[in-house]
Amino acid sequence: MKNILVTGGAGYIGSHTCLSLLEKGYDVFVIDSLVNGSIESLERIKSFIKKKSKIKSNLHFFKVDLRNFSQTLQTFEKLASEGIKIEAVIHFAGYKSVFESIENPIEYWENNVGATLNLLRVLANYKCKAFIFSSSATVYGLNMKSPISEDSNTLPINPYGETKIAVEKILKSFFKSAKSTTSIACLRYFNPIGAHESSVIGEDPKGVPDNLFPYICKVANKELGLLKVFGSDWPTKDGTCIRDFIHIMDLADGHIKTLEYLTYNKPCCITLNLGTGKGTSVLDLIKTFEKVNKIDLNYSFVNRRDGDTPIMYANPLLAKKLLGWKAKKDINDMCLDGWNWFKNNPNGYR
Ligand code: NAD
Ligand code: UD1
Repeated sequence: MKNILVTGGAGYIGSHTCLSLLEKGYDVFVIDSLVNGSIESLERIKSFIKKKSKIKSNLHFFKVDLRNFSQTLQTFEKLASEGIKIEAVIHFAGYKSVFESIENPIEYWENNVGATLNLLRVLANYKCKAFIFSSSATVYGLNMKSPISEDSNTLPINPYGETKIAVEKILKSFFKSAKSTTSIACLRYFNPIGAHESSVIGEDPKGVPDNLFPYICKVANKELGLLKVFGSDWPTKDGTCIRDFIHIMDLADGHIKTLEYLTYNKPCCITLNLGTGKGTSVLDLIKTFEKVNKIDLNYSFVNRRDGDTPIMYANPLLAKKLLGWKAKKDINDMCLDGWNWFKNNPNGYR
């Protein structure tokens, strides 16, 4: 397999995965509307690869909104007319904010589900061997006992999570259909944080972030005054919530291993957790960040946030069994690499 189409490749997880794909020798074709991604991330990847391996990187970009069926179709037709056969698709493109999804559910259904339907409709005409979808641990909903395995019930509690489970279901029916020869993997990510160790690329949230790690970086940088820790009375060892933070480059590697698995095995449809299997409390993450980066963070405890669950971490054994994949980096690496990126790029890609 050589030619990989990456939707949402200019975003956070997509850009890190593109870099890993290029390092492995794949040719990468990115489709992105740039609604939340940056072309600069792709330019930086190109120069990084060129400097490192002294070869021109095979990274190509198409500014396409997947909600637009004809734009999407034309992109595939153009590639085919140039003799480029797309062998696999990694589908990152989508909206990802829980809070926005509650305020604008229709936008979320249209972009996360409608756009995926367009992509699948186009793909049905091209014999693509593998399709990898970015799902989320959010599909498990609240109060699931950790470690959570893939056969746990899925009970999303917000439109964002509902769109993720809807796409998983669509992909399962697509796989079962008589015409399909495409293997499918739905990857349920836990909490990706950090950045590439070179600090060439990283996470570049627009506005005030909802998620913990980018918020920590903005407080460390004194761009935001105070980190509010949501709840100190959860039933955990230190009263703060526990999550499964995973280094972004381990997550990127999980995609490479999935691609290899789908390539070398019989047609299949799999659902996998991508997490470390280790729970880290919010306070542990703050203390580690302070220690490894020698920075004091200004934080204080406030009330619990609506819709939070106290403990959530993965059972990652199925990914280990099928893919031979396991997260290698720890929270020290995540805090070091994440802060290094932020410190060197306080305005992100701008
Ligand atoms: P991101 O917003 O950084 O990247 C998404 C990319 O998709 C952006 O570059 C955006 O411009 C593009 N995009 C959005 N809608 C598009 C459309 N209609 N057509 C073309 N491009 C479009 O997000 P991310 O953090 O990289 O997440 C990638 C995927 O992983 C998303 O589907 C997200 O729901 C899922 N996910 C993310 C996390 C996380 O913590 N970051 C956790 C679980 C799942
Ligand atoms: C969030 C999303 C989830 C997504 C996941 C991974 C919500 C409700 N859920 O989950 O859908 O799959 O990210 O990207 O947004 N915290 C603070 N102060 C802050 C921010 C967060 O104390 O300023 C706490 C939260 O209460 C939580 C933990 O830090 O306990 C992690 O929060 P966050 O980064 O938003 O991730 P999740 O809640 O796990």
